[in-house]
Amino acid sequence: MKVTVVGAGAVGATCADNIARKELATELVLLDIKEGFAEGKAQDMMQTATLLGFDTKISGSTNDYSKTANSDVVVITSGLPRKPGMTREELIGVNAGIVKGVCDNILKFSPNAIIIIISNPMDTMTYLALTSTGLPKNKIIGMGGILDSSRFKYQLSQHLNCSPSDLNAMVVGGHGDTTMIPLISKATWNSIPVTDFLNADQQAQIVKDTMVGGATLTALLGTSAWYAPGAAGAALVEAIVRDEKKLFTCCVALDGEYGQKDICLGVPVTIGKNGWEKIVDVKLTEAEQAAFNKSADAVRSMNDVLKTL
Ligand code: LAC
Repeated sequence: MKVTVVGAGAVGATCADNIARKELATELVLLDIKEGFAEGKAQDMMQTATLLGFDTKISGSTNDYSKTANSDVVVITSGLPRKPGMTREELIGVNAGIVKGVCDNILKFSPNAIIIIISNPMDTMTYLALTSTGLPKNKIIGMGGILDSSRFKYQLSQHLNCSPSDLNAMVVGGHGDTTMIPLISKATWNSIPVTDFLNADQQAQIVKDTMVGGATLTALLGTSAWYAPGAAGAALVEAIVRDEKKLFTCCVALDGEYGQKDICLGVPVTIGKNGWEKIVDVKLTEAEQAAFNKSADAVRSMNDVLKTL
C-alpha cells in the first residue's frame, strides 16, 4: 500500500506521523513545495522508526510528483492555514489554485488514487477536486465531519465527565463555524441519549463550542490546529487501507441524499477500500433539516466563487 501526503506542514506531517506509527502503508511519501522541507520531515520521522517500532518507508519530495507514482491514497493538506480571526472561507482565493494544481499533478502519476481533502475551505475544495478531476465521486472524500465529530465528543465528555470513547456523536453539514450541525438529538453515551443528562443551556453551549472548535484553537495557537486534523486524516486512510467500512461523517458528493445535489457536504458514510461506499440517510428533525439546507446554501455560494477565480 502506498500513501502520499501532500503538504508537509503541521497537519500533513501529523497525518503522516500517524500513518507511519500505525503502519498503514509500506511506502509513505511526503511532498511539499518548500525546498527540502518534506525531505527533512521524512528523515526526522524515519529516525523515529526504531524508537517507535514501525516499518513504513517514509520519503520526502520537493514538488517532484513522479515520487508519488502509483499511490493508493493521497491526502491533500496543501494551502494556507487560517490565522486568528479568519474564517476558513477567506482562504478560497489562494487555496483553490493550489488544490487544483495538486490534484492535476497527482492524477498524472496516480490515476486510480482515492483522494482525501483537508485543505480549506474544505467543502468547496472537495467540490473543486471532484469537478476538476472527473474522478468517480466515491474516490473524493473531504475530511471535516470526522474531525468536528471528534471535537463534539470532546465537548460532550467535558460536560458529562465521561470517556470520549464511550460517546457516539456526529456533526453533519459544512465544515465552517456557522455551517456545521452537531446532531445533539442523536448523540449517545453508550447508547443512552446524552440529552437525558444535559439541560437545554448545556446542550446549547456544547453545540456552540463544537462549532467554533477550530477557531478556538486558532486563537490559542496563532494558526490552525494539527493534532486532531492530522489524526482524523489518518483515521480515514486507515478505514480505506484496512477496508473497515467505518461509519464517519465526511464531505461527499450528494445526489439527492438529504435533499441536496450538485454539492459536497458532510453526511454519514461508510469508508472502505473503494473510498466512501454508502451514504447513510439519517432521519433529521425538521430543525436539523432546515439547518442542513441553510448550510448547503452557504456552501453553494462559496462553490459559486470558484467560477469567478
Ligand atoms: C480545523 C481545520 C483543519 O478545523 O479546518 O482545525
